[in-house]
Amino acid sequence: MRMSKLTHASGAPVVDNQNTLTAGPRGPTLLEDVWLLEKLAHFDREVIPERRMHAKGSGAYGHFTVTHDITRYTKAALFSEIGKRTEAFVRFSTVAGERGAADAERDIRGFAVKLYTEQGIWDLVGNNTPVFFLRDPLRFPDLNHAVKRDPRTGMRSAQSNWDFWTLMPEALHQVTIVMSDRGLPRSYRHMHGFGSHTFSFVNAQNERCWVKFTLKTQQGIQNLTDAEAQELVGRDRESSQRDLFEAIERGDFPRWTLFVQIMSEEQARTWRQNPFDLTKVWPHADFPLLEVGVLELNRNPENVFAEVEQAAFTPANVVPGIGFSPDRMLQARLFSYGDAQRYRLGVNHHQIPVNAPKCPVHSYHRDGQGRVDGNQGGRLAYVPNSHGEWTDSPERMEPPLPLEGAATHYDHRLDGDDHAQPGALFRLFSPEEKQRLFDNTARAMRGVSREVCERHVANCTKADPEYGAGVARALGLDR
Ligand code: HEM
Repeated sequence: MRMSKLTHASGAPVVDNQNTLTAGPRGPTLLEDVWLLEKLAHFDREVIPERRMHAKGSGAYGHFTVTHDITRYTKAALFSEIGKRTEAFVRFSTVAGERGAADAERDIRGFAVKLYTEQGIWDLVGNNTPVFFLRDPLRFPDLNHAVKRDPRTGMRSAQSNWDFWTLMPEALHQVTIVMSDRGLPRSYRHMHGFGSHTFSFVNAQNERCWVKFTLKTQQGIQNLTDAEAQELVGRDRESSQRDLFEAIERGDFPRWTLFVQIMSEEQARTWRQNPFDLTKVWPHADFPLLEVGVLELNRNPENVFAEVEQAAFTPANVVPGIGFSPDRMLQARLFSYGDAQRYRLGVNHHQIPVNAPKCPVHSYHRDGQGRVDGNQGGRLAYVPNSHGEWTDSPERMEPPLPLEGAATHYDHRLDGDDHAQPGALFRLFSPEEKQRLFDNTARAMRGVSREVCERHVANCTKADPEYGAGVARALGLDR
């Protein structure tokens, strides 16, 4: 076997990787041992900031294939014909835990999909739940602080968590899902994914409609009970990563069916709910699921740091035919992700292979830390110029979006009923599912003050008196 030689980062051979350079056989190390300095300096910088939310995750590659025609709604090239295939990368995650947290925790799961279309990257950065705790982005950093570690004890605090949630009636829908069976998926393969927000589609006639995305698992929904999860975490903290990795290694490729729900602009104007409220679903009875295609994951990354840790998803990555909506949570996310990634990965993170578009990129962006692509050589870096580089695409302009009303801080709590949908969801549960919801809630509220418990019971009662009574019973408040 031909032995390859160890080298410095510069390529020159390393003379001795076993013994440091010292003054005499028992003397101190010399500063001149540049190999030791290089090795320690690199090691000292190996950790990059973890994602503020969704720090623990797993990734895999695959593709999305169109099975049904939705070209009447969108001109996005990836949906242009049945059978069309687009390469994909997906990262699943838990939300509250740090990078070393156990997978089998009761928590939301992230479901972030990156599609490398010929028109650029489309990221659908969703969760395994169709709604969210909040509908105003001002509360998002507070949510993070309430569910993460207490600043004094360094421990997670059920008191802070529930104090925060119960003071926001709009959170009850998401809290009900997280405390139900679906709040603890058996693995990433056994859960659905949701874009959650309302997005827009624009078709070839430049007509807009509103759209929600749902990815339904073909593996079937499977969840863990709290007791099963406790036992599992005791022997395997990486249960979801192991499940996904091993399934792909043995050729058992997980698949999800993509559906859309469509709402016309006219329907949105007259619908009884705010269609851009992230704490509400669009009921399937009103807006049926339309099948679109299949997402399959079939290749594990070669290197977790390079491909999973350095992956950067942002809802701001859309392609012609797919757009945003007035959902104010989505609007805030359009800023927050790229901003976080410029801090976490650097301004040139788009060039990291897992993030790089697979279509030509023409840009005036230059320089910056970590630029590794030749920096566009001697090309022009200003506009206007006399060379026709690079021109705009006015044909991609979306139809104008009519807006109404005067600018002020409108109270979103006055816009809609926060108890009807959690109540309707509760009534869908079987008696056994309801009992597990009560018991899961009581376990999650262990150690929480009576005042906060009573506030939660009052919120649940407004959704359904049976919900409130069941939680009160499980918490022992009825005695
Ligand atoms: C990750 C902000 C709401 C799903 C993140 C990150 C930030 C963030 C800063 C870390 C990004 C990175 O470092 O790469 C926000 C803000 C929100 C919000 C400000 C609301 C105002 C949501 C919602 C969803 C969601 C509603 C799902 C529907 C995710 C996912 C990740 C993530 C899946 C992890 C992406 C990955 O795997 O790299 N969020 N988020 N977030 N967020 Fe949000």
